[in-house]
Amino acid sequence: MSEKQLNYGAHFVDNADIKAVETVLRGQRLTQGETVQRFEEALCEETGADYAVAVSNGTAALHLACLATGLKQGQELITSPISFVASANCAIYCNAEPNFSDVNEQGLLNASKLGEKLGEKTKVVVPVHYSGFSCEMDAMGEMCKQKGITVLEDASHAIGAKFKGKKVGGCEWSDMSVFSFHPVKHVTTGEGGAITTNDKKLYDKMQMLRTHGITKNAEMFENESHGPWYYEMQELGYNFRITDIQCALGISQLKKLPEFVEKRRGIAKKYDKAFETMKGIEPLQEKEGQFGSYHLYVIKVDAEKRKALFEHLAAKGINCQVHYLPIHLQPFYQKMGFAKGQFPNAESFYEKILSLPMYPTLKEEEQQRVIDEVKGFLDD
Ligand SMILES: Cc1ncc(COP(=O)(O)O)c(C=O)c1O
Repeated sequence: MSEKQLNYGAHFVDNADIKAVETVLRGQRLTQGETVQRFEEALCEETGADYAVAVSNGTAALHLACLATGLKQGQELITSPISFVASANCAIYCNAEPNFSDVNEQGLLNASKLGEKLGEKTKVVVPVHYSGFSCEMDAMGEMCKQKGITVLEDASHAIGAKFKGKKVGGCEWSDMSVFSFHPVKHVTTGEGGAITTNDKKLYDKMQMLRTHGITKNAEMFENESHGPWYYEMQELGYNFRITDIQCALGISQLKKLPEFVEKRRGIAKKYDKAFETMKGIEPLQEKEGQFGSYHLYVIKVDAEKRKALFEHLAAKGINCQVHYLPIHLQPFYQKMGFAKGQFPNAESFYEKILSLPMYPTLKEEEQQRVIDEVKGFLDD
């Protein structure tokens, strides 16, 4: 019998999740009901932020957050080249210019390098907590605050992570944080995303823009109300709404987050220990001040060996992934004028990395299979 296929990530849904979704399906509101608000409250409780806006996916969350800052043509957003393309695309959705700053050995934006890039045009900075390790948010936050730049954390990989004891998403050093609830992430809503903030003005703006730029709040009306049915569209917004069905799943999943993070950290510890004495392999390491939530478990190997290791593991039913091809090397970005060699740390980081299976339901013997196959390949 062939061995079970192992992927780099996998969601986990239990009976409680299914029951929660069923309850909404049997109720009266599939969307725009109170379950969305309950999910937002649960996110505030989890992160410590004052406000949360749940939306249809993480990309919409980034777009909505950028719109709320007023990002526009002639302005610049700086993010990390080591991220999913959405972290930069959100600038283009607002007709602004995306730009990048080079990364450190963890694939994270480097605060002092970032400082050199901030200019007159820079309106938004998007630090990406790649793999579940937080960027140096205190230094970046302070620097951007002095220059009046908005800090939008891309925390898609980092729900449950902490920096200097503060939970990611609590916006201790930033204006907003964005999450994704795609099934490979820590908690899932199928598709889904959210923004957390402590700023009431940004919150009100995002609430309005999430649903077509429409308000039903009489206190905000520009014209006289015609009656109880009255609403106003005051700005051009979008339909970025998430459903109550998805939020029911999200609430149920969030309850399991502490256990999920603990399991992921346990798996990381076992990998770390196994690879400690192996030559030719270097896992990303948690640094002082960080409490990683390990969305990914990323190793670095010799650039010449990476492809062969990937193929060797795939032949053994272990499906890894490479996160990420640097955004500035994507054809779309090259056509915008970005070039190879521009962000050398990101490029050499990319050449070496591989994401190994990492998810709470990865069994001990399955993880051992991964370790043995990596070892077997490197020993050869
Ligand atoms: C770092 C990062 N940012 C943004 C996103 C976009 O999230 P979504 O897929 O929910 O639109 C992702 C998802 O893969 C991501 O990993």
